Amino acid sequence: MRTQVGIVGAGPAGLTLALLLAREGIESVVLEARTKDYIERRVRAGLLEQNTVDLMHELGVGERLAREGLQHDGIYLRRQGRSIHLPIAELTGRNVTIYAQQEVVKDMLAALLERGAEVQFEISEVEVRDFCSERPRIAYRLAGGGPAELRCDFVAGCDGFHGVSRAAVPEGTLTEHEYTYRFAWLGILAEAPPATDELIYAWHERGFALYSMRSPQVSRLYVQVPEDEQLCNWPEDRIWTELQTRLATQDWQVNEGRILDRGITPMRTFVCEPMQCGRLFLVGDAAHIVPPTGAKGLNLAVNDARLLAAALVSWYRGGSRAALAGYSETALRRIWRAQDFSNYMTQLLHDLGRGDFDRKLQLSRLEYISRSHAAALSLAENYAGLPAQSDF
Ligand code: FAD
Ligand code: DHB
Repeated sequence: MRTQVGIVGAGPAGLTLALLLAREGIESVVLEARTKDYIERRVRAGLLEQNTVDLMHELGVGERLAREGLQHDGIYLRRQGRSIHLPIAELTGRNVTIYAQQEVVKDMLAALLERGAEVQFEISEVEVRDFCSERPRIAYRLAGGGPAELRCDFVAGCDGFHGVSRAAVPEGTLTEHEYTYRFAWLGILAEAPPATDELIYAWHERGFALYSMRSPQVSRLYVQVPEDEQLCNWPEDRIWTELQTRLATQDWQVNEGRILDRGITPMRTFVCEPMQCGRLFLVGDAAHIVPPTGAKGLNLAVNDARLLAAALVSWYRGGSRAALAGYSETALRRIWRAQDFSNYMTQLLHDLGRGDFDRKLQLSRLEYISRSHAAALSLAENYAGLPAQSDF
């Protein structure tokens, strides 16, 4: 089989890229290791920057998002029973939207299939080859087990952190920056109406907690747990007690309900530079991971896809290589900004295991945000996401 752009992975990065290319009449084939059902149910992120929402509308996949997404104009930062309200929209003129990642995937995939795109599921033994030549190839096995090969002009490695694309780059080509935190997040999805109108990011002596939501009936909550923590150590009672301890105030508490999903996410920071090698381009989690505190992972993946699509369009339209050559450098500006912000939010709110001195600094920083317009504005502008047209 032959196509113009071979896309490995049908997560937010791969699907956004395929939609953007299709809109410009550029052909692609998306190869996905999992089943359609699996990727449409995988519970992950939920907070979309305005940039991501705008792009979904531009792509004609924003209809359900407009109906079901919850637009938020601010967040709460809570410590010692007191809240700081950060009016993001008032400060920046931009807002954020709660809409689950698996819903984004569902909407994008449905549009792609409806528009006649080729998406192959349950493929295996993927090998990205010859991307240093003009004729890259992707070798793999079809769902039925038979061998297949996709020849293409370019390969987009959108296969997440554990994918094969980054690993295919010859040793010594990429510089990898990595840091693993000594803690993780235990996240639950619960059948319980959120007891808050906006997200609450809570600092607590026992560790961080986050109150988020998916709909007026469903809450999404997270607590900081030690790295390598096992789910079996967290029966329902313990989860709710810990959430109440870290989030509740004197006259308010978290609404409890049936737990629909639970999981533990490691906290990692990772960037590889450059994000390209010959005709292979890494997009989204395949090239970088941020700790989730800033809610940037999905938004960065979509932004990478936007930049790569524009560069590919420029190549196909005029044969110009400049935009493609500059993909990595352009993408990395926003990626490092998001890394800094995500690490700042992580260090502001988590128990870093370094004792009282660090706690005092964290509380002072929170106080500063509550009293200084400049400090509040800086946090708000990074949280909302700098405009897509900006140099970041
Ligand atoms: P992915 O969504 O990982 O998509 C990669 C796709 O490639 C997957 O469908 C995968 O099945 C497929 N694939 C992998 N290997 C192959 C292969 N060899 N061949 C073909 N296909 C392959 N971010 C937040 O902002 N907030 C959160 O709360 C949050 N929670 C998270 C929880 C978990 C458990 C994880 C793993 C991530 C979380 N993230 C969160 C991060 C966010 O979900 C990611 O940044 C986002 O999914 C990145 O999109 P992507 O398309 O780059 O990668
Ligand atoms: C969600 C996750 C985040 O990491 C975050 O910062 C905000 C919201 C969520 O899953 O809803």
